[in-house]
Amino acid sequence: MNLVLLGPPGAGKGTQAVRIARECNLSHLSSGDILREERKSKTELGQAAQEYMDRGDLVPDNLIIEMMMDRIANLRGFDGFLLDGFPRTRVQSEGLDSRLKAAGESLDAVISIEVDEDRLVERLTGRLYCPSCGRTYHLTFSPPARAGICDHCGDALIRRKDDSPEVVRQRLATYKEQTRPLVAYYGDRGLLRTVSGVGEIDTVTQRIKEACQA
Ligand code: AP5
Repeated sequence: MNLVLLGPPGAGKGTQAVRIARECNLSHLSSGDILREERKSKTELGQAAQEYMDRGDLVPDNLIIEMMMDRIANLRGFDGFLLDGFPRTRVQSEGLDSRLKAAGESLDAVISIEVDEDRLVERLTGRLYCPSCGRTYHLTFSPPARAGICDHCGDALIRRKDDSPEVVRQRLATYKEQTRPLVAYYGDRGLLRTVSGVGEIDTVTQRIKEACQA
């Protein structure tokens, strides 16, 4: 099964992707996490991406398409993939479609997670992130067992630089302008399933699983 999780910043794509991928034996490919790893390793791609990410803008399409298609082409041992944060523009969607088609593959469903904007800001500005394993927490909604420490790997949690209120505003504006139109793009292709991302994390996971089977 090949899936895409679509949704605005803070909708819960990363939170849900980890769970769905584990349960369905899918490879979880998060474009944001891959870019953060590239930055940490100070690769050419990481350095090129830095200024865009810190401003809340999108990294250029050509860099992203190559980065993600390279990961997809090298998957082994999974029953498919779960894309989180990619595609994010029309050019990326078309690039993904044509490259999958050339490889004899296709998408099975695109799940759009819907959350109202006030809640998104609350989620992002309270988010804690583990730079070692990529797990996310929230100060109020899903706090770690020990304050400031990742439950999974025991490392210190940080705030993402792009979760400041000003950058969050820019990321939401970028989403509306460049990514939201993909809802119609995938709707026209019969692939779109819409789920509410509001409610308990377990409840949202269940909704996504049901949407995948619809
Ligand atoms: P990226 O890392 O992909 O950020 P994003 O899409 O903005 O998404 P987030 O990670 O902020 O949110 P999420 O939906 O994963 O929510 P989460 O599960 O963490 O991208 C970062 C940057 O990289 C971009 O701005 C861009 O510059 C660049 N980039 C990445 N991909 C790109 C691409 N394809 N093209 C070009 N540039 C690209 O949850 C958020 C918070 O809410 C957490 O604290 C969580 O605990 C909490 N939460 C989750 N679910 C619930 C719930 N049900 N109830 C209460 N709280 C919840």
